[in-house]
Amino acid sequence: MIDKRGDVAIVTGGGHGIGRALCRRLAADGMQVVVADIEGEAARTVAAEINGTAKEIDVCDESAIVRMVEDVETRIGPIELFISNAGVAFGDGESGSVSKEGGLNPIDDRWQTSWNVNVMAQVYAARAVIPRMLQRGGGHIVNIASAAGLLSQIGDAAYSTTKHASVGLSESLAINYGDDGITVSVVCPQAVATRLIGMEDDSNATEGGFGGNEIDGILQAEEVADIIVEQAREGRFMILTHPKVATYIQRKSGDYDRWIGGMRKFRRSLPK
Ligand SMILES: NC(=O)c1ccc[n+]([C@@H]2O[C@H](COP(=O)([O-])OP(=O)(O)OC[C@H]3O[C@@H](n4cnc5c(N)ncnc54)[C@H](O)[C@@H]3O)[C@@H](O)[C@H]2O)c1
Repeated sequence: MIDKRGDVAIVTGGGHGIGRALCRRLAADGMQVVVADIEGEAARTVAAEINGTAKEIDVCDESAIVRMVEDVETRIGPIELFISNAGVAFGDGESGSVSKEGGLNPIDDRWQTSWNVNVMAQVYAARAVIPRMLQRGGGHIVNIASAAGLLSQIGDAAYSTTKHASVGLSESLAINYGDDGITVSVVCPQAVATRLIGMEDDSNATEGGFGGNEIDGILQAEEVADIIVEQAREGRFMILTHPKVATYIQRKSGDYDRWIGGMRKFRRSLPK
């Protein structure tokens, strides 16, 4: 399991934010951590700090994922934990979630990139490591989704849609491979103080970012990383770093139409 000292972990998007905090926490616990990020310099900085290994990689490139997994298993050791954390969010932009102008629109790029990073990269990682884990009789996959994957993010349809897909993928992996020793966790945070919500990198602030993020409180990346590691170790599937999300899901599933009405009201209350 992921609490054995010396076990190997890969964290994608490990150069900043939640991924970096996960790398620091896992290394402090004695794991050998591979920091994978499209920003090579950021990956190298974190790896140097934690005595880990840096990999400059675009997680949307499946062949690069396959090469990374092969290389890590040959040079460092069997991957016990793969955290698919890299993620992007762009917001709907001025034209809205369906491009009010119609026709070709740059918003399509945002949809495609969100799909590639937030979903397909997690599929590629699972395809690359699960067969190896099955051969060894076990391993742990952690997919970082979002509360937007359960409740929707107002103002970002592509993010909401792709994070729902990440939750769906994680459910399928947990159901299909749980009996064969693969533990799957999916993480659904609300606001965390990172660049993704418009906060400064490595910020200690608990207010700010894009509109509406502060409603239920903004957590620090380090707090979130601690919760993720501890609950993953317990073998938990659904990791809710912000406890109120559990209540919101219950309300939503209890009366979907009422929930949509509540979200519309909330949207009207946000600054334009
Ligand atoms: N910050 C929040 O409020 C929040 C809330 C819920 C979920 N999340 C999720 O947490 C995860 C981490 O985000 P964060 O908040 O730390 O943001 P962040 O922007 O600080 O970090 C994201 C990291 O992913 C890397 N990355 C992006 N595209 C990549 C690619 N194609 N290949 C490799 N690396 C790539 C970036 O370089 C960066 O280091 C994301 O999946 C995000 O959706 C964040």
